[in-house]
Amino acid sequence: MFRIDRNLTADDLDKALRADVIEGLSVEPKRLPPKWFYDERGSALFEEITGLPEYYPTRAERAILERHSQEIAEAADAVALVELGSGSGVKTRLLLDAMLGHGRLKRFVPVDVSGAFLASSAQRVAQDYPGLDVHAVVGDFEHHLGLLPVNEHEGPQMLAVLGSTIGNQEPDERAGFLRDVHATLDFGDSFLLGVDLVKDPARLVAAYDDAQGVTAEFNRNVLSVINHRLGGDFDPEGFDHVSRWDAEQEWIEMRLRSRTHQHVRVADLDLEVEFFPGEDMRTEISAKFRREGLTKELDTAGFTLTHWWTDPAGDFALCLSTAG
Ligand code: SAH
Ligand code: TRP
Repeated sequence: MFRIDRNLTADDLDKALRADVIEGLSVEPKRLPPKWFYDERGSALFEEITGLPEYYPTRAERAILERHSQEIAEAADAVALVELGSGSGVKTRLLLDAMLGHGRLKRFVPVDVSGAFLASSAQRVAQDYPGLDVHAVVGDFEHHLGLLPVNEHEGPQMLAVLGSTIGNQEPDERAGFLRDVHATLDFGDSFLLGVDLVKDPARLVAAYDDAQGVTAEFNRNVLSVINHRLGGDFDPEGFDHVSRWDAEQEWIEMRLRSRTHQHVRVADLDLEVEFFPGEDMRTEISAKFRREGLTKELDTAGFTLTHWWTDPAGDFALCLSTAG
């Protein structure tokens, strides 16, 4: 069974993109929010990133799921799995297998802002899992959690955010997001969160600056999104990809650095922007976590952490909490 809800039409997306671009290009230092990376090309490039030798998080998280999905399924005992930022949903299949094996799972609700990519990946899940009710939702998890199809009387649900996607929000946004997630859940529901852990900065920097240049292309793709959607004339090749570790904040910062002095026009916004040589625009942060700090953040949002699993190398963690 397959259906798709659209909380976000192309028009809504355009409005939100416009507001973000006007704001982000008018402040100093300039910045763009990460959700705009993910048009169809961006989603495909991200999938390529997940297979790169330097990008260990996907492999590490998959290793944890391979080893512990059954425990997760038993602990959650859920009838529905809601996944925010589901992307291709490849790793999610390990969870679906375990939860179906456990015997209670009826419904899968993948939620993503990248509509076309979500539609095709969710449809494939529906084909491969004929007994499962797949209810995809095109939406922005920062704004549309209240619109999710949650059926309160059906039984416990598990909400999952994998891939360290939570690390792409600023700490204050993240606190609000965790509170919102908590508010959508009922007593007895669970929250499965995948987070990348603090480690050797050289490995972290390399994970966001691969030798083949796929991450650089992914980063520059946000400029192509603005060109296509808002009539911009960015020259993506006029910007260098930068990945740097901020030791104080414990996050990786992704930037686009202007190679030259350039003027960019975004026709649909009637906006003209100047970039100086060497000027950086921040496009993404990817926060790295420690167990103690994350436990506190979850606690503040009303969750109780019950399980913490890592891969054998201790690079990545998957944690399960209850919404008590
Ligand atoms: N969960 C997958 C994909 C992670 S990439 C994995 O672990 O491999 C992050 C995903 O979140 C992308 O698919 C992107 O389109 C989606 N995303 C980013 N910001 C979002 C937002 N504000 N609302 C909904 N989806 C978002
Ligand atoms: N959630 C992923 C992460 O923080 C997203 C990501 C991976 C990403 N590589 C990237 C975002 C490169 C921007 C650029 O690891």
